[in-house]
Amino acid sequence: MSDPSPTEARVRRIHIDTDPGLDDLLALALALASPELSVEGITTVAGNASIDAVTENTRRFLALAGLDIPVGRGASGPLALSRVSAESFHGADGRGGVPIPAIDGRPVPSARAVLRDSLLERRVDALVALGPLTNVAVLMREQPELLRDVELVWMGGTLGAGNVTPLAEFNAFADPAAASLVLNSQSRIRIVGLDVTQCVTLRPAELPSDGFGHSSMGRFLSAVLEAQMEAEIPLAGERLAVLHDPCAVCAAIGSDLFRYEEKDLEIGVEEGRERGRLQELPAATGTGTSIHYAVEVHEVRLKGLFLQRLADWARG
Ligand code: RIB
Ligand code: CA
Repeated sequence: MSDPSPTEARVRRIHIDTDPGLDDLLALALALASPELSVEGITTVAGNASIDAVTENTRRFLALAGLDIPVGRGASGPLALSRVSAESFHGADGRGGVPIPAIDGRPVPSARAVLRDSLLERRVDALVALGPLTNVAVLMREQPELLRDVELVWMGGTLGAGNVTPLAEFNAFADPAAASLVLNSQSRIRIVGLDVTQCVTLRPAELPSDGFGHSSMGRFLSAVLEAQMEAEIPLAGERLAVLHDPCAVCAAIGSDLFRYEEKDLEIGVEEGRERGRLQELPAATGTGTSIHYAVEVHEVRLKGLFLQRLADWARG
């Protein structure tokens, strides 16, 4: 099956919950550049950087794109355990110091209000979570019925090596209580974890010679990708960008870029070595909430789609 074109498949209305974050910003651009998707609402959650930084980045990015999509300010920390961040990678400003025009400081609605509006009024088909699941878990706890008919697509977790501890991926580690509450709900869940995202890496030689073009958005996206490659040097020993969150957007598009397996999963919720560790339950003792877990990705096609769509979108 090839990627469905919008004429073949109804446009998917989505809400994005995110902690921008360099790869989150690239994922937001990909979602906005994809004709299969209609972004109806965005909520922010502390993760890569503080709730102030990730909310400001989201609002400034949408202003740069000239888009008036509702933004809700979400949780400033996890449901339980200590707050962690990835500021060592994304910077305290969450965007690696990349400049972006400032905007007015008008009050921002709550994530609760914007998420409810996306689900009840804008009737989104899917919720795409690119950070810790705190906002989703709060809504799940208060009004689980609102999430019954939507698919949750989450970039999070790993069944292999972690990126924040040897056993845990950052979004799972940042709020394991929230992830556990969501994994044990009756929602339809599709997980794109490190097992596949760490295979989707961009190196400088793979980029178009003029990046994403010379518009203000094109120059911003090129600078974000450059900042992400720079930040990766101490970890990977070379300039490369791992497209974690753009992978989740591709999963929401519903293309056949991934192969999934149904799994029963649990997550470590205690502080210490097991914090945020995702583990597969033997089918016999599973909770019955089977989850579609990505086990393979077509890296070359995904990268081609990512680069082409961002370049076309940024050129306007
Ligand atoms: O582990 C990768 C995930 O953690 C991505 O969502 C990245 O933005 C960070 O939040
Ligand atoms: Ca993220």
